[in-house]
Amino acid sequence: MEAVNTGKTVELIIVRQDTENGQTREEKFSVPYRPGMNVISALMHIQKYPVTAEGKTTTPVTWDMNCLEEVCGACSMVINGRPQQSCSALVDKLTQPIRLEPMKTFPVVRDLQVDRSRMFNALKKVKAWVPLDGTYDLGEGPRMPERKRQWAYELSKCMTCGVCMEACPNVSEKASFIGPAPLSQVRLFNTHPTGAMNKDERLAAIMGDGGLANCGNSQNCVAACPKGIPLTTSIASLNRAATVQMFKNFFGSDHMVD
Ligand code: SF4
Ligand code: FES
Repeated sequence: MEAVNTGKTVELIIVRQDTENGQTREEKFSVPYRPGMNVISALMHIQKYPVTAEGKTTTPVTWDMNCLEEVCGACSMVINGRPQQSCSALVDKLTQPIRLEPMKTFPVVRDLQVDRSRMFNALKKVKAWVPLDGTYDLGEGPRMPERKRQWAYELSKCMTCGVCMEACPNVSEKASFIGPAPLSQVRLFNTHPTGAMNKDERLAAIMGDGGLANCGNSQNCVAACPKGIPLTTSIASLNRAATVQMFKNFFGSDHMVD
């Protein structure tokens, strides 16, 4: 797209660090304003012209991105104090100078790029998938009641962006809490007619340390989620399911599923 010279600039302050445990520093940038630009287009300009507002040449700023349409979840960062997607953060809607920081719940790789492995590891811990034997054609899967399918679809919109984890006061590098997104995925996969085969295992994974009991019910997650996923409803539903499971475990039910 051809640059439109509006004569205006966008002022940014970026919190940077060169290595995982490196010293943090702030750098100011002043980039040409274009109508409709988002935070990523400002970052792309800095990548091309890595010069600070004071005219000092610096290294290009590092961040993650992929889809550029709020689907992949890679571009999360803290913008003016609020964790969100930088691809959908429009400059016109932000107060300047726009302050960009990496999310602090995850280890920083460099600048605004973080390592979201803890969230993916949590998804592994709770088996957030439907196991399939791909060696033969299983045919059509079981049908779900439409009402259930509709809310399950809402939960399936999670893009593992980590924004809810950043917003939650109980998720940190030092704490064991797996966080709202992986919990909500337990509800999703336990709802799925085939996924329910592993329901007991998933519930067992969240009934121990780092699971449901570590949620402090701050409700920050549901307010922060860019996909509007009803995270606190999922957690409440899982608490009920875990209580039922506890009784089943205690009385030695022979019904492995439901
Ligand atoms: S639940 Fe929402 S905020 Fe949390 S990781 Fe998924 S999409 Fe992001
Ligand atoms: S780049 Fe994919 S969500 Fe922003």
